[in-house]
Amino acid sequence: MFETLKEQPADKILALVQTYREDPRDPKIDLGVGVYKDASGNTPIMRAVKQAEQQLWEAETTKAYTGLAGDPAFADAMIAMVLGDAVPRANVAAAATPGGTGAVRQGFDMIRMANPDARVFVSDPTWPNHLSILKHMGMEMVPYRYFDDESRGVDFNGMMEDLAQAGRGDVVLVHGCCHNPTGANLNMTEWKALVDLLLKTGATPMVDIAYQGFGDGLEEDAAATRLIASSVPETIIAASCSKNFGIYRERTGLLMAVAADASAHKLNQGTLAYLNRQNFSFPPDHGARLVTMVLSDDALRADWAKELEEMRTGMLALREQLAAELQRLSGSDRFGFIAQHRGMFSRLGATPEQVDRLRDEHAIYLVGDSRLNIAGLNKDSVPILAKAMIDVGI
Ligand code: LMR
Repeated sequence: MFETLKEQPADKILALVQTYREDPRDPKIDLGVGVYKDASGNTPIMRAVKQAEQQLWEAETTKAYTGLAGDPAFADAMIAMVLGDAVPRANVAAAATPGGTGAVRQGFDMIRMANPDARVFVSDPTWPNHLSILKHMGMEMVPYRYFDDESRGVDFNGMMEDLAQAGRGDVVLVHGCCHNPTGANLNMTEWKALVDLLLKTGATPMVDIAYQGFGDGLEEDAAATRLIASSVPETIIAASCSKNFGIYRERTGLLMAVAADASAHKLNQGTLAYLNRQNFSFPPDHGARLVTMVLSDDALRADWAKELEEMRTGMLALREQLAAELQRLSGSDRFGFIAQHRGMFSRLGATPEQVDRLRDEHAIYLVGDSRLNIAGLNKDSVPILAKAMIDVGI
């Protein structure tokens, strides 16, 4: 029966990792996949995570199953981190998932169970895997305008016009912070206007928050998610611990379903546990346990927050250095957007040919849509990239 299978397209971001690895040139610069790297190009285990891991190794006495929705302490700690006190805890159903991608997938599954005809409105562009998962699940998606190619900022008017078409039973997928792949984000006035629109149309928001702490700070990056969850009757939130705890391969995420009051809790919680059982049974626990330990211990938490802040400010400094270098080389302000963008990524707005030339002539790897992972740079490679960008005519 396998002969009936059709070849599936390779994930473009992950394929790039392979091409980069196979490139014998030295030096070469990887600005592709969204993995944080320090100035030496390593993806370190964060200090607090390593300490928690040591403590866990000593203290853990069993590997027996946790709950279907994961350890409730993990949900408590993550809900507090993402939502603060924006909504009562009793209004939030939550289930641990294999990474943020698992939360996104389970979120879509919950939507499909609630309304098989739901249309999911997705930003143009969005993380390609959003589209791939929706397509795989046979769910209808509707792109909404998001990135303004001229300003490299958000086309907010276009976005609002398109989202006015979403109605009750539809879902509007947004990135809570650090938009992937563009780096362009709404300001708080725009988030408020979006909330007003959601209240008017009755569409349900789904927030993908995978980079909390990488933009303007842990609290600041959660502000839009909190505003949405506290303003509309129902919100779905997919949170990832991969980047802000640096535990990519541990596959640690949380899906949250926020309801208007506590009355829906049993139904929502039961649905999330059911979905886990159908798709993979118990979620992975190791990463979730580390996150819970870090968030619940004052000293570990303080050290983690400090290291995360160092990562964030390091990425901001690289943004500023790159924008300044490009201004110097080009004699124009047209690259100022790089310092305005937030998170790991910026979409440069280069053509596919220019991206190819960066790779072929300069051994610099960007995703084909000209997404740049700012954390792939260090202060020595910034001038190399800037010069190469000007050379290929960006
Ligand atoms: C990315 O966008 O590069 C990351 O989220 C990694 C991934 O899974 O694609």
